Amino acid sequence: MEITAEDNNLTINKLKTKVEVKDLHLHFGDKHVLKGIDLKIPEKSIVALIGPSGCGKSTLLRSMNRMHDLTPSAKIKGEVFLDGESIMGRKNDVTSVRKKIGMVFQRPNPFPKSILKNVAYGLEINNMAKNGQAKKIVEEALKDCYLWDEVGDNLNRSALDLSGGQQQRLCIARTIAVQPEVILMDEPCSALDPISTAKIEDLIMKLKEDFTIVIVTHNMQQAIRTADYTGFMFLGELIEFDKTENIFNNPQKELTKRYVEGNFG
Ligand SMILES: Nc1ncnc2c1ncn2[C@@H]1O[C@H](COP(=O)(O)OP(=O)(O)OP(=O)(O)O)[C@@H](O)[C@H]1O
Ligand SMILES: [Mg+2]
Repeated sequence: MEITAEDNNLTINKLKTKVEVKDLHLHFGDKHVLKGIDLKIPEKSIVALIGPSGCGKSTLLRSMNRMHDLTPSAKIKGEVFLDGESIMGRKNDVTSVRKKIGMVFQRPNPFPKSILKNVAYGLEINNMAKNGQAKKIVEEALKDCYLWDEVGDNLNRSALDLSGGQQQRLCIARTIAVQPEVILMDEPCSALDPISTAKIEDLIMKLKEDFTIVIVTHNMQQAIRTADYTGFMFLGELIEFDKTENIFNNPQKELTKRYVEGNFG
């Protein structure tokens, strides 16, 4: 029996939604960058966002933890919900939103501090480092990110002395140390070599046991390898969202088909 897009939507709708984006519009000045995005991110899944450069992937991802708050030209309309509660609006304090929804960027961006201080940073600003627990939490986060064996012998080394791949795993450790619920990743491997990329992909797949993950990637193989669901964006719209295998093998929209087959532009 053929599986229709409606069947797939039914399946996706039955899953528990962790993050819901509802009719989200974003303008930078006069430029309409997100044009009514509706998206439900299932809990403890990996969702990839793909699409050509400039289509709004990063802008959408950044909307999910209020990264546009400090951009005066950004005007947002619509809603983002975490577990059914809005994260928008003044009544929601940004620090507590970002504690629940963490972000990892394209270029590893450790602070010019020791490995220990990098991973403990979020614990301090969120008052989580009580009763001398910080070191233990740092150790666990580094172990979870497969970094402990490489750095555990000297946590006082500067984070800037690590390789790019190690720095990115450190940034992920820094993000998970505060036990967020959702992790947003904007092209987290694009500055890394293939071996470091494979390590981060393994890590991402392990982390979904505990976290909900949204990853923007230009690497379609990476989406296929890691993501349960994939959304294809084009010119500020979410054209199609479905199980990853359907997006790549049986897309419902002609635009998606052309993009994943590489017949674009
Ligand atoms: N702070 C900003 N001010 C003005 N325009 C912006 C700003 N940030 C992004 N834009 C514009 O919004 C549009 C979407 O950008 P966005 O960075 O979300 O694209 P993207 O899909 O992530 O692209 P890429 O794959 O190249 O990273 C682009 O036209 C971009 O120039
Ligand atoms: Mg981007």
